[in-house]
Amino acid sequence: MTSLAGKSVLLIVGGGIAAYKAHELVRLLKTRGATVRIILTKAAEQFVTPLSLSSLSGEKVYTSLFSLTDEIEMGHIQLSRSADLVVVAPATADLMAKMAHGLADDLASTALLATDKRVLAAPAMNVRMWSHAATERNVESLKHDGVSIVGPNEGEMACGEFGPGRMAEPNQILTAIVEMLKPRAQPLAGKKVLITAGPTREPIDPVRFISNHSSGKQGYAIAKAAAGLGAETVLVSGPVSLPIPPGVQVMPVETAQEMLDICEGEIPVDIAIFTAAVADWRVVTESSEKLKKTGGAAPNLTLAENPDILATIARSAKRPRIVVGFAAETEHVTEHAVQKLEKKGCDLIVANDVSRTSGVFGGDRNTVHLVSVSGVEDWPNMSKDEVAQKLMERLAQMLVPQQKAVE
Ligand code: PMT
Repeated sequence: MTSLAGKSVLLIVGGGIAAYKAHELVRLLKTRGATVRIILTKAAEQFVTPLSLSSLSGEKVYTSLFSLTDEIEMGHIQLSRSADLVVVAPATADLMAKMAHGLADDLASTALLATDKRVLAAPAMNVRMWSHAATERNVESLKHDGVSIVGPNEGEMACGEFGPGRMAEPNQILTAIVEMLKPRAQPLAGKKVLITAGPTREPIDPVRFISNHSSGKQGYAIAKAAAGLGAETVLVSGPVSLPIPPGVQVMPVETAQEMLDICEGEIPVDIAIFTAAVADWRVVTESSEKLKKTGGAAPNLTLAENPDILATIARSAKRPRIVVGFAAETEHVTEHAVQKLEKKGCDLIVANDVSRTSGVFGGDRNTVHLVSVSGVEDWPNMSKDEVAQKLMERLAQMLVPQQKAVE
């Protein structure tokens, strides 16, 4: 039996019939030695009482965002940050919708928005609510934000219907908690990883620019995975609208030249990964005023080639120990990638097909081919998070071969 002594869990109980299972979950956590602090939503108070949960946990149970006493004893920020893990059980459709949309109108949702810790949600709701398109969207958003989900199980529901929607049993939730609280191998502790992500924007005039469809998702996923393996992680990011992954330092830039300047300032590093879709050209002279239509010929834009950031860093005197490029191709994917490996002077190229039908630009999945001097390795279609994790574990093994990346 894995001990949870010294670990602290913040349990957020939503308002559903499955709330009664919170008692058993608290008991199991206490048996393992964990400290359990509890927040009840207003609706949850209709199903379970602060008194019963407080008796089981041996801690005060929190219910109100505006309670002065609670704020003095432990503010909502501290409550969510002092925990090693936040568990939402039951995670009702309403609570999950709030989490997915970042609403913060009560203590539970505020603590969830304020936390910097990992979150595990155990959904529980009517089968139709679970299969509703809105709930499916919310679950996808939560997974994208890094929330882990346990269950729901299939079975007979309190409302008499049958199907998926029953909250996972307390021992299943406990297993997921133990797994999430397991000390993680940090093979990149003490190492520095530099990543570029997103598009660059090359200005034409004060309102127009040259850019591309990169969303930054693949690069941000790699930064998250690098930080998760313990690396000091610097992410040089073009303009995107993505949350900053935990433990990652983001340096925002607009143009290719700015991206290069920051990268040069950050080396030496142990690993550099170039996922950014850098605009190949910039306009030689940016107009200081908005270009006007003249009713005649369209303006002539003279373009100049941008510096190649990857090639510059790969050939620099302060070359990172491992340099990884990406190759975004629309045809002859691996052939072109093999040429780029040589031309740009990198150790590995991650080749992906970015033709319109692949959905890679902006999408959540990717099919990549790992190209090195030893050959081409085809990876199956995976989520961008999975590609990132697998790539970072591979790079960790290349950098620190004597260590296993993940135990
Ligand atoms: O951002 P997403 O929506 O998640 O999409 C991910 C992605 C498709 C952008 C990503 O997986 C990807 O393929 N990134 C590389 C995009 C690209 O510009 O590829 P390229 O084949 O044109 O360039 C080859 C390599 O040189 C890349 O590592 C690129 O970052 C680098 N490069 C290119 C030009 C330049 N001036 N400087 C560079 O560093």
